[in-house]
Amino acid sequence: MDDRSLNGNILIVDDKADNLRLLSRMLGQRGYEVRSAISGSAALMAVRALPPDLILLDINMPAMNGYQVCEELKACEQTGAIPIIFLSALSDTADKVKAFRIGGADYITKPFQVEEVLARVENQLTLRQMQLKLQRSNQKLMQEVQQRKRAQDILQDSEAALRQRTQEMEAALEELRLTQMQLVQSEKMSSLGQLVAGVAHEINNPINFIHGNLRPARDYAEHLLMLIQAYQKSAPTPPELQAQMDSIDLDFVKQDLPQLLESMQVGIDRIMGIIRSLRTFSRLDEADIKTVDLHDGLDSTLMILSNRLKQEDNSDGVEIVKCYGDLPRVECYPGQLNQVFMNILTNALDAIEDENSQRLAQGRSPQLGQITISTRITEAQTVQISILDNGPGMPDSVQQRLFDPFFTTKPIGRGTGLGMSISYRIITERHRGTLSCTSTLGQGTEFVITIPLQQSQSQPQSLTMHGREEAGLSPEPC
Ligand SMILES: Nc1ncnc2c1ncn2[C@@H]1O[C@H](COP(=O)(O)OP(=O)(O)O)[C@@H](O)[C@H]1O
Ligand SMILES: [Mg+2]
Repeated sequence: MDDRSLNGNILIVDDKADNLRLLSRMLGQRGYEVRSAISGSAALMAVRALPPDLILLDINMPAMNGYQVCEELKACEQTGAIPIIFLSALSDTADKVKAFRIGGADYITKPFQVEEVLARVENQLTLRQMQLKLQRSNQKLMQEVQQRKRAQDILQDSEAALRQRTQEMEAALEELRLTQMQLVQSEKMSSLGQLVAGVAHEINNPINFIHGNLRPARDYAEHLLMLIQAYQKSAPTPPELQAQMDSIDLDFVKQDLPQLLESMQVGIDRIMGIIRSLRTFSRLDEADIKTVDLHDGLDSTLMILSNRLKQEDNSDGVEIVKCYGDLPRVECYPGQLNQVFMNILTNALDAIEDENSQRLAQGRSPQLGQITISTRITEAQTVQISILDNGPGMPDSVQQRLFDPFFTTKPIGRGTGLGMSISYRIITERHRGTLSCTSTLGQGTEFVITIPLQQSQSQPQSLTMHGREEAGLSPEPC
């Protein structure tokens, strides 16, 4: 190989000055940069000062021989990779083996043959260059791998951040949807309350006139009838008057008028009861915490639902069984509690009615729907209201999601899926109570509301719009 562009830096180590000169000249003429060292220790110093590309190392030297120098250089990280060609007059194979074993790259025997020396030197330098090149591209490769790994890590990180952000956005969107629906729902309830209160107020005045005037009207009618009777007794009735009396059937009028007025009184009393219930249900004047009789709230809610309930005079509708205990007045938000009663009772009625329509569709006779409402005071001084229906009950899959916002099994337009989630929050967050449900398929469902008799001062004034999970609440398992 005649390429001198490598221009390697070579260190020649030999204790014979003649050898040093000869080799220096030979290699110097070929364009190499040559340094020489006359002993092992001088060689080590020269290498450490400036590591050469190649070392020609004599084996046989006093004080420190070539093997020792080689071993020291190989042991050191900075110098270990420098190729060493051993020089020796000995042609003993054992020495050659040792030279290779301790890390020598090649071996030249003296006396030197110029072309052999040059060929071996060039060979080693080329190898060394290739080795260095390989090392450099290896390093570059490693760097690239690291950079790629870093880029990948960054990508993964940003992907994870993006995923998290998306999840957060989805959660915020869901929260927003829920808040909006709840606002709509509570707005609906409050509009319903306002409407009910407005209607009740408007009807109240004319009913009051009728109610107020009915008693004097009854008295006047009674007096007039008595007067006619006295008049009839005191003188014979003239024939033309008798004909008029016959035509109006005075005897029947005398008998029917008091009954008619009596039934008007019953009707008025019933309307006044309805108005009272409407006002109790809307509780517009009682948005704040109040101490009330919960039975009034239950009754007024039942009144609102009365068209779906069985009345004394007919056999249709669901029967209500009241097992009211002896309850003290309870501190609560009455309008909101009524909303809970309404939600639970409506669901029970829906369930019973659906079941019966299915029975009818299958040609079976409907069963008598029954809702039992029981109230009692517990030993822990809480009020318990149980609403038990004999409807179809719920499968596990429904029970588990019962309190989830927007969960409904009803067709679109009939169910919003908000009734139970709102009720749950009204009871747990607003009243620090519990709302639990037990349901058996084919037998029915029972909801049990438990609230303390009194609310603490630190109650929140408005229902928060957070999700249940966030508030650390979860419904009791059904
Ligand atoms: N008493 C009950 N009997 C059977 N299923 C019920 C009863 N109460 C509630 N559910 C079930 O719970 C679901 C959620 O009720 P709710 O939150 O009030 O929403 P919605 O009545 O609008 O469907 C209902 O769709 C129904 O499947
Ligand atoms: Mg409902």
